[in-house]
Amino acid sequence: MREKRRVPYKVYLSEKELPTSWYNIQADLPTPLKPALNPVTKKPVTPDDLSPIFPKDLIFQEVSTERFIEIPEKVQELYKSFRPSPLYRAYRLEQELDTPARIYYKYEGVTPSGSHKLNTAIPQVYYNKIAGIKRLSTETGAGQWGSALSIAAAMFGLECTVYMVKVSYRQKPYRKMLMETYGATVIPSPSEHTEAGRRILAKNPDSLGSLGIAISEAVEDAATHDDTNYALGSVLNHVVLHQTIIGQEAKIQMEKIDEYPDIVIGCCGGGSNFAGISFPFLMDKIRNGAKVRAIAVEPAACPTLTKGVFAYDYGDTARMAPIVPMYTLGHGFVPPGIHAGGLRYHGDSALVSQLYHDGLIEARAVYQKAVFESAVKFARTEGILPAPESAHAIKTAIDEAIKCRESGEAKTILFCLSGHGHFDLAAYESYFSDHLEDVEYTDEMLKEGLSCLPKIE
Ligand SMILES: Cc1ncc(COP(=O)(O)O)c(C=O)c1O
Repeated sequence: MREKRRVPYKVYLSEKELPTSWYNIQADLPTPLKPALNPVTKKPVTPDDLSPIFPKDLIFQEVSTERFIEIPEKVQELYKSFRPSPLYRAYRLEQELDTPARIYYKYEGVTPSGSHKLNTAIPQVYYNKIAGIKRLSTETGAGQWGSALSIAAAMFGLECTVYMVKVSYRQKPYRKMLMETYGATVIPSPSEHTEAGRRILAKNPDSLGSLGIAISEAVEDAATHDDTNYALGSVLNHVVLHQTIIGQEAKIQMEKIDEYPDIVIGCCGGGSNFAGISFPFLMDKIRNGAKVRAIAVEPAACPTLTKGVFAYDYGDTARMAPIVPMYTLGHGFVPPGIHAGGLRYHGDSALVSQLYHDGLIEARAVYQKAVFESAVKFARTEGILPAPESAHAIKTAIDEAIKCRESGEAKTILFCLSGHGHFDLAAYESYFSDHLEDVEYTDEMLKEGLSCLPKIE
């Protein structure tokens, strides 16, 4: 017998209950991060190395080991216009699966940009604004990050240039139009605007681009213009830090209904929404021995954690970004043009990588057809159309709920629904017309990808 409804469909928080600081897991890491290295000298990166492209506050957050970092008042104010995001109980999905598991999801699609990315776009633009910066350059894969930065830049009156991975630029014309509506300039990457882009196009004029290439272009743009800084939508420690607003809110919301998750799940591209939802719970695991499991879900076509190696690698294709210890498939790897554009990244956040290496989190790789099957099941039961990226988390939540049905265990599952899929209908159409392919990641790909790892003494 399924239990009767005892908690509301949706748990909100009042403005007064909103967290006022971000949680920094660097304070609690069992193994501290190894330093990031300068891509040219291969010596540990110094604040001076980063200051041509980042403001000092973000450089400070990148290396801070303070456990809680206060959210500036201006940022808290702007957060209040769309936060807290709701925590939903997936009653109808549970019923469809006939599972004793209790499934909860934190829905980040309610932000104006449609995903969690605005949680970091706002503080990043804020810190750049107070540092006197006039323009930001960035990359975008699926278009979610570019949209978020465009909105935040408009809020603070900064210009914004977005290098959008070419395959997404073609698949998602409406994302481009959205960014332009907010005043951003959108350039398909690889482009002729930068040395990095021109080099790629000379080798392969038909290149579909990748996040690694777009990052190189955006970094080069920032490094060669005094009034311009660079902003990254994932991977870096300060981005991960800002996203912990998700898990901190979820914790308070769950407390309100007397719940605590057995399993926390997030899709994993660079790792920021996964980190955002899971790190505040991992704090309990590391500090107080909480039994919570955290699962990062990635595409089988770009299986960074599950098939990559833990090594020092460049964050971008043109080797301009710092060399960071992370799980990687090799910075030269260009993942196939799967429909979860935001998960097509060769590497992963250093923090997520270190935690995975230390056995504190788990990882899964899933195929895109099964991901879309889960997305459609979710849309038809819960009513929300998920972003293809977020649907990776749904697939794994469903798998875990089915395991509960088989074992009879009533586990509490929490996942991050990182964004909506309103701009991803072409991907859904491909799924319905049977044009989606499950791309296999081969040992040869790995061998080739790893052949270009930097040699570090
Ligand atoms: C909706 C959505 N979810 C997840 C991701 C993956 O990024 P991350 O792993 O940093 O959360 C993206 C990236 O573009 C995205 O748009």
